Amino acid sequence: MAGAQNLEPMSPYVRPKLTLVSNSEVTSGEQVRDPPIGARHHRAYVGAAEGYDISGALQFNIVTFLGLRQDHYLLDIGCGSLRGGRLAMSYLEPERYYGIEPEGWLIAEGIANEVGQDLIDLKRPAFSNDSEFTLTTFGRQFDFILAQSIFSHASSSQIERCLSQAKQVMEPNALFLATFVQGEQDYEGDGWVYPGCVSYSLERMTALAEDQGLTCQTIEWPHPAQQTWVVYSHSENACRIPEMGDAMKLLALENELKYAKARLAKIEGHPYVRLGMKVVGNPLYNRLRETTSRLRKAA
Ligand SMILES: C[S@@+](CC[C@H](N)C(=O)[O-])C[C@H]1O[C@@H](n2cnc3c(N)ncnc32)[C@H](O)[C@@H]1O
Repeated sequence: MAGAQNLEPMSPYVRPKLTLVSNSEVTSGEQVRDPPIGARHHRAYVGAAEGYDISGALQFNIVTFLGLRQDHYLLDIGCGSLRGGRLAMSYLEPERYYGIEPEGWLIAEGIANEVGQDLIDLKRPAFSNDSEFTLTTFGRQFDFILAQSIFSHASSSQIERCLSQAKQVMEPNALFLATFVQGEQDYEGDGWVYPGCVSYSLERMTALAEDQGLTCQTIEWPHPAQQTWVVYSHSENACRIPEMGDAMKLLALENELKYAKARLAKIEGHPYVRLGMKVVGNPLYNRLRETTSRLRKAA
């Protein structure tokens, strides 16, 4: 099938192995293997198990880089076992995190193994098991929408449905972040492909968005499986996506400020400077200056 391919292995981020058997059962010399991608394991089902942590971190980092703040509402489409959701949920105020995931067991396993019931009780997220991309199901608008590694498995009619629904639930300044596998060929099938991936050209992704009144911009952001990140916004309200360079400049300025403060502290700590400051701060010094200036004027 054109545009369909096997899931690319993730880049070799080195992580402790996820055991399918307990460590006590592993005899010396026996190879402990991660469950394969797509296996019925809450980490492996959503991608390479060893990249679970970094993938979640990259999702959380991009939404906060693009402006997600604690009082915003976030919709996580295909939230899986809460790989990114567990970080977003901790960060957001209660009742701000919403997830859609047809595989209910993934959410349950994610809560049991990654999030914990205490955080759920504290943050009160909302979930739906809808499989038709019914984003209106929660009856509310969102500031941010995330679809990480969803369009990399979806047919163009599913993407179309998702974007048309997104258009309805996006606040005027909302951003919708998604990843897809960029390729020469467009997947023309009409079903969800999993755990394999499908590809689309950027032109096709842009056209699908424009048909729904959305603007589609790419953003340079790392992805463990080299998928392309895109940001959708309302066409009538298309915003400027900050460049990585903006964050770099900010970091450079912060560093410069830190360095300048450290230099100042060092200078202020020098015995002569301390003595000088003591003299300047002394009322006698001020009286002496005033007298000198009076004498100068009188002379
Ligand atoms: C590659 S995983 C990504 C999961 C999650 N976004 C993450 O990054 O960890 C794809 C997810 O999409 C879910 N999915 C499958 N069909 C879906 C649909 N129709 N609507 C939303 N999610 C779907 C799968 O069950 C799976 O959890």
